[in-house]
Amino acid sequence: MTTSVVPAAGKGTRLGSQIPKALIPILGKPMISWTIAALEQTPIVDAIVIVAPSEALDDFEKLRIGEGWRKVVAIVAGGLDRQQSVWNGLQAMPERTEWVIVHDAARPLVKPSLIFAVWEAAQEIGTAAIAALPCTDTVKRTLDGVLIAETLDREQLWLAQTPQVFAAELLREAHEQALKDGCTATDDAMLVERMGVPIRLVPGDPTNIKITHPTDLLLAEAILKHGFGTH
Ligand code: CTP
Ligand code: MG
Repeated sequence: MTTSVVPAAGKGTRLGSQIPKALIPILGKPMISWTIAALEQTPIVDAIVIVAPSEALDDFEKLRIGEGWRKVVAIVAGGLDRQQSVWNGLQAMPERTEWVIVHDAARPLVKPSLIFAVWEAAQEIGTAAIAALPCTDTVKRTLDGVLIAETLDREQLWLAQTPQVFAAELLREAHEQALKDGCTATDDAMLVERMGVPIRLVPGDPTNIKITHPTDLLLAEAILKHGFGTH
């Protein structure tokens, strides 16, 4: 069985939003509704756990009924950071879960075909796989935010996206180990990397953008209007 954990408990500070980021409308529909629709439409996804801001649990429950989400088995409260929120989501998964798909609510344009490709790669390697894009910009490293320290070799750099797919037991262990070690990470792959386990990179989708800044909302609506986000 495959369960998707969807961290959606962020505030949207960089968007300057009054309401939780996952509830901000995109073409008139809350961001989380686009994200969940993609997972509902992906046949290998059996169950979905949404991690929501504690003060917005009621709003998410209303959406669950209004949108008729069939696969959503739990809506749980998030934590202080993304890692804590995913951890809370992992606790609410059905016991029979063998594979976990972690996918951010903040990437509402994800296509079922990408979710499936990452899941399939994880099955093949037996451990984990993530969507990522080869880096197209030239990347500078700086120590003080003013002067360039060095230029990194772009050929070796990939930008991590979600979906990220893991063997369920492996992801649980990685989170437990990180808790013990006081290690915090901005994605789940980083916690599994620490375990020395191989993780496959799967070419992601440039339209699978993360909504971070106000201009990303404009971009998302433009992409959806042109029909790139529908399959
Ligand atoms: N997230 C979460 N719990 C948190 C923080 C973040 O579940 N305590 C989720 C967000 O809802 C989002 C994903 O993790 O789907 C990626 O986070 P990010 O893009 O940083 O979203 P926000 O934290 O909401 O934005 P900001 O950092 O600007 O406040
Ligand atoms: Mg954040």
